[in-house]
Amino acid sequence: MADVPRPTPHRVAVIGGDGVGPEVTAAALEVVRAAGVALETTEFDLGAARYLRDGTVLDDATLAELRGFDAILLGAVGPAIGDVRVPPGVLERGLLLRLRFELDLYVNYRPFVGVPGSLAAGCRFAIVRENTEGPYAGEGGRLRAGTPHEVATQGSVNTRFGVERCVRYAFERAARLASPRVTLVHKTNVLTFAGDLWQRVVNAVAAETPGVAVDYHHVDAACIYLVEDPARYGVIVTDNLFGDILSDLAGAVSGGIGFAASANLNPARTGPSLFEPVHGAAHDIAGTGRANPLAAVSSAALMLEHLGEEAAARRVAAAVADFDGDPSSLGTAGVTARLLERV
Ligand code: IPM
Ligand code: MN
Repeated sequence: MADVPRPTPHRVAVIGGDGVGPEVTAAALEVVRAAGVALETTEFDLGAARYLRDGTVLDDATLAELRGFDAILLGAVGPAIGDVRVPPGVLERGLLLRLRFELDLYVNYRPFVGVPGSLAAGCRFAIVRENTEGPYAGEGGRLRAGTPHEVATQGSVNTRFGVERCVRYAFERAARLASPRVTLVHKTNVLTFAGDLWQRVVNAVAAETPGVAVDYHHVDAACIYLVEDPARYGVIVTDNLFGDILSDLAGAVSGGIGFAASANLNPARTGPSLFEPVHGAAHDIAGTGRANPLAAVSSAALMLEHLGEEAAARRVAAAVADFDGDPSSLGTAGVTARLLERV
């Protein structure tokens, strides 16, 4: 009997993290496997709990090991609200941002589908957020700290290379839409240096990409449009900080941050990409079985798409999009069971 070729499993590093993180990533992996995709997973113990136990945030050896995976699935990291033993920035800079920078995850792709009853009901749009520069690059410093003459500066880094690769990704994404549209969101009237660079790059890429409509909104106006008329967006492209803020707003108008998925992508594929729900660790409901796994499952669908498992990605994404129950009453297991039936 001839050997039946077995699909090569994708090697996925799983950072469940803290609070509800491990529960929602477990649910996401169950759905992915039910969709017929072979995965070989390795768990990494990172996050607030690990930091509190032995002071480790992300050591060089672990980072080197992570580079060898096909993808990384992350749940949520962070201490319980009010737990001052983990100072602000330790996990954000030391773990999440370090992974984004070191693995060169230069696009943060966040798709939104307005759920019924939300302000964005029936709308689909995406935010393509630059993920390695802007104010997140950490340019700045302090002088005379703690004195009345203290100075704190926090700059924003915008490189032609960094902006262009992000904008190109946004246009590639938009080109796949039924009505391709890219909206640059910035504050070109005040942040004139960075804004001018972004606008010129968008103009240049637009000139090479006929068929994609191009628009520009100031970020403050975009906050109104996202609430009042989200249908006007296809792909929003924006800098790291504007993208961070706008994506929480976009999550809220689309049905809640509990549905928002994200892909931290290295489209050049020089290393693994990282997929995570936008929501946090929600320690208050951890272990109660009430965590909504939909955002983690959607993030896993983005991972499948990136791994080339497009048919399975579509099935998982469709199961989430067609989901019509109430996650808060069904709980993690109830939501997962419904998704498993659908994929
Ligand atoms: C996000 C988060 C992160 C960010 C934090 C936790 C560093 O808010 O992924 O949106 O600011 O990018
Ligand atoms: Mn955020």
